[in-house]
Formats: sequence, structure tokens, C-alpha cells
Amino acid sequence: MFIGAHEWSLPKFDNSHATAGLDLPGLYNRLLNGRFTERTRLQAAGFLRNQLAQIDERACNLPESVDDLKGWMLATAQSATTQYSVYLAGRKAGAPRRYFSNRSHALYFLRSVAPTKLVDGAWLFGLMRHWSNPRLAHLVRTYVEEIGEGAPDKNHVLIYRQLLQRHGIDSLDTLDESLYAQGLIQLALAYNAEEFLPEVIGFNLGYEQLPLHLLITAYELNELGLDPYYFTLHITVDNTDTGHAHRAVQAVMDMLPKFGDTGAFWQRVRKGCQLGDAGVGTCAVIDGFDIEREVVRIFSHKSAAGQGAHSDYCRVAGRSVNDWLAQPAEVPAFLAALEKAGWIKHGEPVENSRFWELLQGTRAEMFGVFSSYELQLIHDWIRGPASADGRAYNTAASTTDIPKRPSFRVAARLAALQGNRHLGSQPTPDLLDSDLQTMLQELVKLDDTDQHKLLVRAMSPSLHWTPAGLHATRLFCQRIA
Ligand SMILES: [Fe+2]
Repeated sequence: MFIGAHEWSLPKFDNSHATAGLDLPGLYNRLLNGRFTERTRLQAAGFLRNQLAQIDERACNLPESVDDLKGWMLATAQSATTQYSVYLAGRKAGAPRRYFSNRSHALYFLRSVAPTKLVDGAWLFGLMRHWSNPRLAHLVRTYVEEIGEGAPDKNHVLIYRQLLQRHGIDSLDTLDESLYAQGLIQLALAYNAEEFLPEVIGFNLGYEQLPLHLLITAYELNELGLDPYYFTLHITVDNTDTGHAHRAVQAVMDMLPKFGDTGAFWQRVRKGCQLGDAGVGTCAVIDGFDIEREVVRIFSHKSAAGQGAHSDYCRVAGRSVNDWLAQPAEVPAFLAALEKAGWIKHGEPVENSRFWELLQGTRAEMFGVFSSYELQLIHDWIRGPASADGRAYNTAASTTDIPKRPSFRVAARLAALQGNRHLGSQPTPDLLDSDLQTMLQELVKLDDTDQHKLLVRAMSPSLHWTPAGLHATRLFCQRIA
């Protein structure tokens, strides 16, 4: 039978669902939630087309020919490690940190990139239902590894969620909506993989290469006593020898069409790769830190809850605190009044500020009002340039939150020695989870094909990090082993 050659130029579609007036966080959250309508999925596809239309193909750094891909991968990694060694030499010679001016700057970064990190790996999810296609084997394996093969301590999203939780970064409510663009691209690819197959492959190719910013971020987080594991994990897992970078190149080779227009397919792969640069980049996020603005943001956000919670005896500059907090727009003036009245003494140790004593001192009437991220921010804001020493706001506690854990490679070796092909521990499923219970009850009723479909559903971006998703991933890994 004749197999018709597939036309790989990007089809023209009605773009009425595209980005004009699009609520990026809204669409992102609907997709991440996993319960969305067909209209939402089409809206995400429109968003992707719009992003692709804005790409300047001249800025693509991929080689013109797919034959040069392996050399490109090695050169990319070499360039990152060479620049990193220059960075390290500079630091050794006394240069200051390049990225994070203080501890709260680093926490601000972790918060700002959360919409992207919380969907890590999602761009490959749409391929999972086609897991049996041998040409997709490298990409299926990459997705399964992104979600930790069902081991909670190796699931990238779960590791990031725990990192945020540890520092009280539990609300992303007021994040700038532009920070959702990159995560939305990844979710949009997840649910439109059939239409955007070359772009998915290209996105994966670009995203799984080792960038310089990953190396520097891990180094400086570690220096500030913040757990860099999420980042170091990617340094090892994205390696060019056997890791995701290598798999990504191999996946392009495997998927290049034998029928039809290979050149058009490759051009779409290149554009998909460039999608990884859309939205706000790592360095732009880091450069966007303005500690004063961030302090005003958290006080404004708190003002709704704080207004009315103070006694009328609490007065600053002749006005009650309740009155000050009635208008979030007055927060900068309120902070200035606190400073003028001597409650806040900038550029001095925090202990000299009476306001800080309300938050952390022996009186601490406002204990628990601010999260640990917010306390660190206020602490660094009050201390000013001295905060460059990276001191934690609660110096009574350990200044490092880095848990003792074996490196990824050591964990892998230990797991291999124990005959365990999955890297993490294999916990007993936590049955106090309605989705897990429902999934287990459903599985016994289904035939093999439908069981597989259910497992894949549970491995979606919204579920893979939950007890049901982790259990489904372990079962899936056993089946494809
Ligand atoms: Fe990852």
C-alpha cells in the first residue's frame, strides 16, 4: 500500500483563539488543573501558533543541517562549561556573586520561575499515549525520568514544590503574568502534541541542553545555603553522554521522516527549539529583582488581612495602622512613615529596628504574619548592602537548608547495586488519597489497553507528582521494562 507523504509545513489555522487579551495565568492554571474543555485546549494551540509566528528564525543557533546536530550539542556543552570555569576563576579571585545579591534575591528567583519549574517535563506528556512507537522511545524515557520513574525523591516537580514549601513560597498570586508564558508553552505542547510533533521534538532538543545559567544558579544557591538539588540534578541528568541532552539529539534522528519533506520537518524542529527562549528568560528574571518593590508588594498583599486587625492605639505618624492599611496604594508612604518614626532603621542590624522585633523578637506580636520568604525579604531590605553576606533571617537556626543526600550518580550506583532500577525508594502507596484509591479500583476492572490509558492519564502534569501519579508511573515503568 502506498504511504502518502506527509506535508510537514505548519498548517494554517484560524487563530481566533490566540493571545489577544489572553489571560496567561488563567489558561496556565486551567491546563495544569487537568480538567479543561476542548475550547481551552484549542485556545492553548492558538497561543502556540501565535508564539511560533513571533519567532525570528535568524536567531536560531541550531545548525542548518541535522547532520551537524551532535557536534552542535557537544559545542554547546563545551561553551557552557568553559564559561563556567571563567566564572569560577573570577569568583576565586574575589568577584561577587553574579546572580544573587543576597538570600532573598535567590528566593525571589525561585518564586518567579515557579510557573515554569512546576510543569517541568510537561512538553513531552502528549507523546506518552504513543509510548509504543519505538521511534519515540528516547522521549518517553526522558519524560519518565523527569517524573522520577515514580520515586518521590526523583520527581523534578515534586522536588521543586518541596523547595518552595521549605521557604514559605506557597502563593504565586501576585506574580507578573509574563512569568507564565514559558510554562504555558510547555503545557500547550503537552495537550497538542499531535499537531505540534516537530515543535515538541525541537523544544525538547533545546531545553535539555546544559545552559551556563543552570551551573551558576546551582553554585550560588549552594553558596547561600539554599538547597541547589533541583538544579544540580539537571546538570547531571542533562549530560551529553547518556543523559537527556544526548537522548534529545537521538530523538530528532529517530523521528526524521523517511517519507515526505524532511527539510520542512527540520525547520519546524528548529522553531520548536526557539520556543524555549520565549517568555522571560532566567537572566531577565534575576535582573528584575527590586527589593523595595518586592517589599511593597508583600505589604500591599497583606494589607487586606491586616486592615482592622490592629488596635486603634497602634498609630504611626498620627494615623492608625488600620487607616494606613485601608489603601494598599499607601504602603510606600506607610513604610516611609515607619522609617521616619524610627521603627525601621535601614542599613543597620535588624535588631536595631523595633519593627523587626515585632516580627521576630521576644515580643513578636506579629509572629506568623509573614512567611519565611517574606521575613527574609524584610530582613535583607532593612540590612541593605550588608545583606550581601547571605545571612538567613533566623540565624538561630542553621544557615543552610541543604539536606544531606547522596549525589544523583551515587544514588544511581547504590540503586543498581541493590538491583533496583528505579533510583529512589519505593514507598508503600499512601492510600489516604482519593485519586489513588479510585485509580486502583478502576485498574482491576479494565483490560490491558485501557489500564495503560488510565496510567498515562495519571502521569499527566496535574497528577504525576501526587500519590496516584507516582504509583501509576511505577506501574508504567514495570510494564515497559
Ligand atoms: Fe527536569
